[in-house]
Amino acid sequence: MTPSVIRSGAACGAEIVFDLSREMDAPTFRAIERAFHDNIVVVFRGQQLTNERQIAFSRRFGELEIHIVKKYLLAGFPEILLISNVKDEQGEHIGLADAGFTWHTDTSYRRRPSRCSLLYAKEVPHRDGRPLGDTVFASTIAAYEALPDAMKKRIHGLKAIHRYSARRRVPESPRPKLTGEQLAQTPDIAHPIVRTHPYNGRRSLYITAGECIGIEGMPQDEALDLIAELDAHCVRPEFLYRHKWQLGDLLMWDNATSMHLAICDYALPERRLMHRTTVIGTVPF
Ligand code: SIN
Repeated sequence: MTPSVIRSGAACGAEIVFDLSREMDAPTFRAIERAFHDNIVVVFRGQQLTNERQIAFSRRFGELEIHIVKKYLLAGFPEILLISNVKDEQGEHIGLADAGFTWHTDTSYRRRPSRCSLLYAKEVPHRDGRPLGDTVFASTIAAYEALPDAMKKRIHGLKAIHRYSARRRVPESPRPKLTGEQLAQTPDIAHPIVRTHPYNGRRSLYITAGECIGIEGMPQDEALDLIAELDAHCVRPEFLYRHKWQLGDLLMWDNATSMHLAICDYALPERRLMHRTTVIGTVPF
């Protein structure tokens, strides 16, 4: 049976009604994959997933990435990265406490950046009955399509340079610094500013001010101005979908056609705990 899809009405985002703890045949998976590509960000509400089940569902989309920050991998399940502000008895964060606090797309610093990421809500902070810690997504397809023709021509064929450590972190970020060896595994990488989706051929913008440090063959000042202009364009309100979390949400997003931002408007004792799996994608073209 084809799962029903309820669109958010925003530039991206939809709910897919399906219990992911059930067996899923190939036609159902294909319908889900199509709805995912069409809507860029999809949520499965009210899930009760074991770690194994989240990993198995994620693997249907491809090989899983083991995150470079090893400290926050779930014990026994290195495919799951903990994103959390919760602290253990020693006062140490149990997960990445500052993940996604600037606009980005996941692992764009890789030669094969992430195809998609899946975030499973285990604890959602609330205040006065309202959820906190929303995640905001921008459709970079809608952003590309809205560009004036002159800008489309200007950026055609250009490549931006992405860097892991370029991202602005929160002041006094608790995130461990990468070792020299880890940094050597993430050299700067150039990707096309205009990407073609490997599954549906749609074009999108692939550039963020937080990750991109230049544009190949362009003077630095001009490149930084262009990166800032495109980044600001992508996050115009009409391209956004804001996800309000519920416990048991399994949210997944297409990293080729969106960028996202985690809103940090909560603090302990308001607890947030997410389990993230990340699927490796193809080389952008
Ligand atoms: C991320 O950027 O992967 C984290 C998003 C979130 O925690 O909402």
